[in-house]
Order: sequence, then structure tokens, then C-alpha cells
Amino acid sequence: MRLTLKSNLLLGISCLLGYTGLAQDYEAQVEALMAKMTLEEKIGQTVMYSGEWDQTGPYVGTDNMKYIREGHMGAMLNAFTVEGTRDLQKAAVEESRLGIPLLFGYDVIHGHRTIFPINLGLAASWDLKLIEDTSRIAAEEASAEGIHWTFAPMVDISRDPRWGRISEGPGEDVFLGSEIGKAYVKGFQGDDLSKFNTILACAKHFVAYGAAQAGRDYHTTNMSEGELRNVYLPPFKATIDAGVETFMSAFNELNGVPTSGNKFTLRDILQDEWGYNGFVVSDYTSINEMIPHGYAADGKDAARIGMNAGVDMDMMGSVYRLYLKELIEEGKVDQAIVEDACRRILLAKFKLGLFEDPYRYIDQDREDTTKYKPEFLAKAREAAASSSVLLQNKNSALPLSKNAKSVAFIGPLVKDHYDIIGNWAAKGDRKGKAVSVFEGISEYLKADQILYAKGCEILKDDESGFEEAIEISKQADAIVLVMGEGHHMSGEAASRTNIRIPGIQPKLIKKIREANPDKNITLVLMNGRPLNLSNEVDLVDAILEIWFPGTMGGAGTADVLFGAYNPSGKLTVTFPRNVGQVPIYYNMKNTGRPIPETNPKEDYKSNYIDAPNSPLFVFGHGLSYTSFEYSDFKLSSDKLTFNEALKASVTITNTGDMDGYEIAQLYVHDVVGSVTRPVKELKGFEKVFLKKGESKTVSFTISAEDLKFYNSEMIYGVEPGTFEIAIEPSSDFKFTNSFELVND
Ligand code: GLC
Repeated sequence: MRLTLKSNLLLGISCLLGYTGLAQDYEAQVEALMAKMTLEEKIGQTVMYSGEWDQTGPYVGTDNMKYIREGHMGAMLNAFTVEGTRDLQKAAVEESRLGIPLLFGYDVIHGHRTIFPINLGLAASWDLKLIEDTSRIAAEEASAEGIHWTFAPMVDISRDPRWGRISEGPGEDVFLGSEIGKAYVKGFQGDDLSKFNTILACAKHFVAYGAAQAGRDYHTTNMSEGELRNVYLPPFKATIDAGVETFMSAFNELNGVPTSGNKFTLRDILQDEWGYNGFVVSDYTSINEMIPHGYAADGKDAARIGMNAGVDMDMMGSVYRLYLKELIEEGKVDQAIVEDACRRILLAKFKLGLFEDPYRYIDQDREDTTKYKPEFLAKAREAAASSSVLLQNKNSALPLSKNAKSVAFIGPLVKDHYDIIGNWAAKGDRKGKAVSVFEGISEYLKADQILYAKGCEILKDDESGFEEAIEISKQADAIVLVMGEGHHMSGEAASRTNIRIPGIQPKLIKKIREANPDKNITLVLMNGRPLNLSNEVDLVDAILEIWFPGTMGGAGTADVLFGAYNPSGKLTVTFPRNVGQVPIYYNMKNTGRPIPETNPKEDYKSNYIDAPNSPLFVFGHGLSYTSFEYSDFKLSSDKLTFNEALKASVTITNTGDMDGYEIAQLYVHDVVGSVTRPVKELKGFEKVFLKKGESKTVSFTISAEDLKFYNSEMIYGVEPGTFEIAIEPSSDFKFTNSFELVND
């Protein structure tokens, strides 16, 4: 029951207090409220603590109700549902002096109750509309449970599969990462934040967190300003272009300065250069962590640095609550800076309509009737299928036949309901709500067609299940192995030095191949990072990468395995041959001694002596059950001036016997620059559906604006010269066309 009586009463009070609910009045209303607030109450808005409904960092016990009633807390994380937020909000609104409502935030990263594939999986769909739809659904479910704000999208570019949090991001490419970041912001925030089913988004982790040394989480990042501006900043700028209302500063230091105390990134770039007027929340105690970083002497010093640098809200650290008043009195922090932080936070609350009706997100009927709607689950099933990537398919092992006499399903993840929804799965159910692969395939095969053995665990060394697994593999027409990582093996604080399939799973794969030398074997992978599959590619026929596919993962996967959905996903991260190649990504620099194609063995070239330079699977790679032919590449001109646009087009034909999607990718290469340029750069993509035999022309427009980069003087511009250009199915190609960019 909505709190109608209460909210109508409040509506009356809010109008009396001048809360008109009109966007044009927000700023004036913020000022009017600020004028009534004490310094302690303004500081209170910069304080955030955790509820007990989840734990997403080291436990810090706090007396939440006390701080709320005193007006010494402005926001909470990990508190949701009507039951979990009503009393807290009531205490803020009806028991504190000014009744300023709380902001409730939670990590709704790839779904709240209905869980979608992990973000690295959703990225592999290259489907911006799908990504927007999934985040819109996530906002529907989250806002129905009292959540006003999600700590997403994570837009950290990463090129290191050792880093567990590569699973949460868009992958290795700047352009794609930027487009994906925008799609999430649009989905979460919708077109009107004052609606009760829209929530604040949060671009995180600002900045360069994905460049952690040695792929170890929270580790140091060091890079040139050029690398920062050309690779790690653009996806954050893109979220601002999409209207993102909040940012989260990161844990890592950048070039010696922790990013939660980094004035250069937070004020000089974010506020001054980009004109950002949202607010910045720290990561979980990341302000305090400047002490172990060796950048702050103590909590008070950390508070001084964080606030002066531009972190507006202290998540879980207590240092703003404890020290800001003193710092202001001592002249170490300017009161105006704290007031600016408070202003930004209050403005966000006005935009959400919380002053008009602080209980608008607290509605038991809506909470009870929103989660798991059939259309949400249908979208989750589509997302699982669309995010899967067919890495190899020798002997056309896939799709499977529904008429097979028997198919053996083997592996620790065949019947899994627990890991399948991945890390950062908010309130996703791990006890059985998710559709396992086994349940999914049971829609296609009868019980007597299915053989099953777990074979082994993900990590344990116990081989006692091998015999049964090998035995049933020998009885079956075809074999499907469902293996990979546990969901806890990626995500936060989950970096790995060994990126192979964990445990004794590889050993079981080998034994099953030895027992079935000529049978079709498919490996279905659940994992949160690129894996080193160098041993498996020759042992199995097909490899289907399904990431952690979410609540409907088993159903979506079965749709792909049996051909109801023709796989269309393509990698947004490179799969290395081994961890020694890392960092490895598609558009590294050419070096002065590239390996000559004509003589790959030539001495004194930039190569390894024990492995090729090339990865196992490249960025943009993904197979289909059909085949596509690219032909008739055209450029509207071989010259481009600074104020014109060039059109590049290609014809794509579905030459196979199955309808399907193809993701065409536009790449350019700036051959000579005042700084060296990547060997190729993604500058466009289009996911196009082609019936069997059908042809379509795909075209892209390129302008000088698309070719800009930061040079050694940090000037963002473009330089005349030769640009190679191509439209291809993946990043594995040689350019054969070019144009000249000329001054007018
Ligand atoms: C965690 C994560 C961050 C998350 C925050 C709140 O430490 O780094 O991504 O949003 O704390 O849970």
C-alpha cells in the first residue's frame, strides 16, 4: 500500500516549505534549505554508512539511527526493501531537525533480482539497446525496493585478465566502453529522474582503476597523461554526455596520488575541464585508505585531502563526520567547499523528488509485484543468449540435435544455480531461482536423451568423480562439458596469477577426449575473465563462452546450444595464449621492430622466443552457425577535409543456411602522428540481422572529430595525413584501404 495519506500530507508540507517539485526551482530550494542548515547538518550530508542488508567491504559497525536523527548522515548503502528503508527514512524525515531525506544506494550492476549476464558478458552482445533495456529493468526492480541510486556503470577499461574486476566492465576498447557506459546511464536514469522508477547512476571507479599493476586489485597505476586522456578518461566523459548524476572515486593511486585525493582528476579535469555538477562519492573507505597509501598522516589529514580534492561524500570512512568541522575551524578546509559538496548532494535528492515525497520509493504493493516480471525474465533469457560468444566450432559440433540419441552433460557447472549469476549480483537468488544449464537443456531433450555426471568440483582436487564421467561420456552421441570459475574467482579482490580453467577440470577434459577420440565435444565456459584456453582448443571441438549468464542463463545457453538462437556475441577483451603475454589487447603500438609478415622468424624483432605475439582469440572475435561474407567496400572519397564527413560502406551477405546477427566493426589507423598511434582503433560498429542468403549494406560516417587524440602537449586535435580504414568482422585483419585527411 503506497503511503498515500502520508505522502499527500508531505506533499502539502513540502509545498509549504517551498518544495514545488519543479526542476526550475530546485537550485533555489537547495539554497533556501542550506540557509536553514547548521554547519554540522551540511557536513552530515557528506556522510554515508552501510545498512545490514548486504556487506560490500570491510565491516564497520555504526550507530546509524543516532546519526540519522542528529542529521549527521545523508546517505546509506546496502539498505533496501520497504522493510529495510521505511524506518530509516522515517527517522530522517520525521525525527531529524530539518527532515532531509536519506539517499539509498546499492550495487545494482547487472540486475537487482532478475540478474543479467555479468557486464563483460553484456558487453559481448555489442547491443546498446539490450544493455539499456537490462539496466532499465534493473532500475525498475531496484526502485521498487527503496533504492534511489546504483553504483554503476563501471567503465574502467582493462587489458589484464588477471584483474578480477575486468568482469564488471566493458572490456579493453575506449570507443566501445564509452558507448556502453552511455547505454547504462540512459537505462538506469531514464528520461525523468523525478519518476519513481528511475535511479541515479554512478560512473566508477574514477580513474584508471583497471590499469592496476600486475592485475592485482587496488594496486598502483602509473601512466602518462596522454595514456590517461586517450584511454581511461573517455568512457567517464561519455557518461557525463549521457547525463550521469554521480561519480565514484577509486581505490588506486595514479602516478603517486590516490584517486580519492587527486585534485588533478577530480577538480581540474572532472569539475573544471568537464564542468561536472554532479557529486562524487568515495569508494568504500577509500578516503581513509590514503593513510596506508602513505599520502595522509591520519584520518583528519585524509579528510582534508579528500574534501579539498573534490570527493563530496565519504562512504563508510567516518572521517568527514569526525574532522570536517575542526578542519574548517582551523582553516584547512574552506567552508565553501563543504557547502558545495552538500549542495550537489541535496540537488540530487531534489532531482529524485525525495523532498516532495521522501517515501515515493517505499511502496509495498510495487515491491511485491515488480520483481521477476515475465518480461524481465524474457529479457534476461535474450541477454544470456545474445552475450554468449562462440569461440570455436570445429566439425560443426554445434548446434546440437534435439534428436540425438543421448548427450552427456559433464562438469561442476551443469546443474549450478549458485555461480551462474556471477559476482556483484545484488539480490539475485542463488538458491534455485536461476535456470541452470541442465534445466535449460531439459526444454530440448527428453530425460532419456540426457546423461549427467558432475565429474569434479571447480577447485577441489578430488578425482573420484572422473570414472563415472568418463563412463557416461563413452555412452553418449555427443558430449557437453560445462566448466569454468566460481563466481567468487572474479570481481573485487579476486585477481588470479594463473588464468587457466581452475582445479582439475582441465585434467578431466583431457581424459574425456582420450576416452572419446572421435566424438564431438563442446566446452561451455562460465567465467568472469579471459582464460588461457591454449590446452583446451585442441582437445574440444566447440567452445561456447557464456560468462556468468544470469537468472535465465541456462535457458539462454540452451537456446544457443540447440540453435534456437544463432550465437552473435563477439569478444570485447582479448583471450591470451598465456598469462605471460599480458597486458595484451588488439590495438597495441607497432614498435620500431614489428615482426615482418614476410619473414616471421627474422631476428631482432619485437617477439617472444617461446610463443607467438598473437593472442588465442582476438578482440571482436565471435563465430556464428552461419557465415557472412564482406564485399564491395567503398569510400565516398579518398580525401577528407576537416569540416566534411566521409562515408565508408560494405556489403555483408549471409552465405550460410541460418538467419543470424553479424556485428560489423569499423576500424581506422592513423599511420603517422606527432605521437605514435595504435595500429588500429574501433570507431564504429553495427549489429545487423541477415536472413540466410540476404545481403545488406552497412555504412559509417567518419569525420575529423572522430580521429582526434591528445598529443604530447595534451592538445586534443587531429593531424592531416594518411588514415587506413576497414569494416571487418573482427580486429584480425590487414588494412587494404585508406584516405587522406587534408587541411581545407
Ligand atoms: C566496493 C566497490 C565498489 C562498490 C562499493 C560499494 O568496495 O569497489 O565498486 O560500489 O564498494 O559497495
